[in-house]
Amino acid sequence: MRVQENVSLRPYNTFGIDAKARYFTSFHSQEELLTVLASQEWKHARKMILGGGSNILFTQDFDGLVMKNGIKGISVLREDDEFVYVQAGAGENWHEFVMYCIGQELAGLENLSLIPGNVGASPMQNIGAYGVEIRDTFFELEAFHLHDHALVKFDNAACAFGYRESVFKRQYKDQFVILNVTYRLLKQPRFNTSYGAIEQELQRMGVTVPSIRAISDAVINIRSSKLPNPAEIGNAGSFFKNPEVTREKYEALKAAFPEIVAYPLPEDHFKLAAGWLIEQCGWKGYRDGDAGIHARQALVLVNYGQAKGAELVELAWKVVDSVKEKFGVVLEREVNIV
Ligand code: FAD
Ligand code: EPU
Repeated sequence: MRVQENVSLRPYNTFGIDAKARYFTSFHSQEELLTVLASQEWKHARKMILGGGSNILFTQDFDGLVMKNGIKGISVLREDDEFVYVQAGAGENWHEFVMYCIGQELAGLENLSLIPGNVGASPMQNIGAYGVEIRDTFFELEAFHLHDHALVKFDNAACAFGYRESVFKRQYKDQFVILNVTYRLLKQPRFNTSYGAIEQELQRMGVTVPSIRAISDAVINIRSSKLPNPAEIGNAGSFFKNPEVTREKYEALKAAFPEIVAYPLPEDHFKLAAGWLIEQCGWKGYRDGDAGIHARQALVLVNYGQAKGAELVELAWKVVDSVKEKFGVVLEREVNIV
């Protein structure tokens, strides 16, 4: 395994930030990972695991070892009457994995088509889109402890999934390397078209009988129409989470802003569309130098070329302040800042 020095991370993060890694390597198996972790040379180095770099904002150079997870392989572990258990290496591209499942006529991930990044990061924030989250089909994962080198299995409950949350973002932050993830996919699809735009898109496509593939295509069309393609404009998807508020807070906001976009949650809570809040503060399409807010989706911060991570963070703080001032709601970041 080759360890390179002073490597630009620009090709490795979808924001296209030109930060440098003091050292950079990639590993393709648990054995290769252990070789690095156990070696005297790297034992005490600060380490960071990188997937597809689509949920990271580098604000400075990384003075340590960046380790890109390149573990590949997709295999069917077993099946029963209802389910097929499919395991994928952490370094598999997420969308290609979803396409593999659809090709095998296995259902459950079609609403999550076209999310950038790799399989290994999918449980980190319980990725979700269009009414589905991975916790709905996640079975288990294997992870390697960075310090005591134990191989640990986490089932669905052990991951403590929440909205854009898991144990890996909380108490086990920066402690484990996810090696592979197993999904429990359905032989008989249960379509989830609860997200209004999917039904509309299926109609527009002329689809009368939905299929796994048609739903995937509809999601791909919707996503392509509003989310910027990182190959063209640097971004990491939603920069903030959609905030959750109590009924009392929601009703006060609704009285003051009748157009507010919100969705009911269990336990008398409401989720507010952060994109709407940010747009109302006048940020949509804003640009200062190369840092900006996407013109079609105010929840997405963008790098038009040479923006620095620190400039994007500064812009993010301005957005947070203005939303707090106008609505009394504090936006929480979704993107990982390094
Ligand atoms: P990275 O950005 O490489 O890493 C993210 C975090 O996970 C980092 O802290 C990293 O250290 C850690 N990590 C990565 N791999 C491992 C591993 N194997 N073991 C341990 N830690 C690891 N997200 C959604 O949920 N829904 C969406 O609809 C969505 N849409 C997006 C659209 C666009 C255009 C973009 C750019 C991003 C979008 N995202 C979305 C965010 C992003 O795609 C997901 O968070 C994705 O899972 C990140 O995967 P990654 O491999 O790129 O992770
Ligand atoms: N809206 C606006 N202005 C905007 C953007 C949105 O008014 O500029 C309002 C619209 O009313 C719209 C509503 O907000 O109907 C919701 O917008 P959208 O459907 O685009 O979804 P979102 O809530 O902004 C969330 C996820 C996305 C995911 C989509 C689809 C979060 C933080 N974001 O965005 O995930 O793809 O739903 O399910 O939950 C990501 O996590 O990176 C991500 C892109």
